[in-house]
Amino acid sequence: MIRLDKYIAHSGIESRREIKKLIRSGFVTVNGETVTDSGMRIDEDTVRVCMDGQRVYYRQYVYLMLNKPAGYVSAREDRHYPFVTELVPEEYDYYKVYPVGRLDINTEGLLILTNDGAFAHNLTSPDKNVYKKYFARLSRPAEDADIAAFRAGMEFKEFTAKPAKLEILADPREVYVYIAEGKFHQVKRMCDRIGKSVEYLKRVKIGSLELDESLEPGGVRELTDEELKMVFACEDIFSDQKNIRDENFSGL
Ligand code: URA
Repeated sequence: MIRLDKYIAHSGIESRREIKKLIRSGFVTVNGETVTDSGMRIDEDTVRVCMDGQRVYYRQYVYLMLNKPAGYVSAREDRHYPFVTELVPEEYDYYKVYPVGRLDINTEGLLILTNDGAFAHNLTSPDKNVYKKYFARLSRPAEDADIAAFRAGMEFKEFTAKPAKLEILADPREVYVYIAEGKFHQVKRMCDRIGKSVEYLKRVKIGSLELDESLEPGGVRELTDEELKMVFACEDIFSDQKNIRDENFSGL
């Protein structure tokens, strides 16, 4: 059971204060009857609520795709810099979404924002093997030996990176990097390890979900149900690197 005003707010339509006014003014019906008490308790599983003649659907969670521009920190607030939730349209204020994982302030691209804690936990847990794909421009050309270095996993002070994939593009200063984790500066630190620094970084894919390139930098839109499933749909990202043999890879 849930309060009527909370139910409507959960549909993301209006602010709670506006909703109270609309209910008081007789714009809302519950199972066909006009109701003016915002605190009326209703069963969210069976009730039929309409506002101004339009059916209102309750939902608890929202999932947003942001094409993060450089210059924004991946946080709900910051004292010194713009932060990503400033880019989320007001209609989602009620849900208090937060970024899932972090992109550095100068990193661009695919960032998911949600208020679903279990989803966020699963997505950031390395055990789930959700690989994240980044486009990077390097200070020096990548070489074939670098591919094996990524593939072997890398030891860092606070963690061991799982086998990662390095794909060298036509211009060898440009690469795709696939990592299973998302530790602090991970891609930059892995590239530093092979003697190249990252000059530009953009996340383009999480699991099988690609950044919608029609979303301009700073643009936000909801993920479809289909896209949500794609986040956890793991691909065999190493399938084209079968020629590199190492017992570390056998589980992949
Ligand atoms: N790795 C980095 O170094 N930076 C990011 O923003 C994401 C991954």
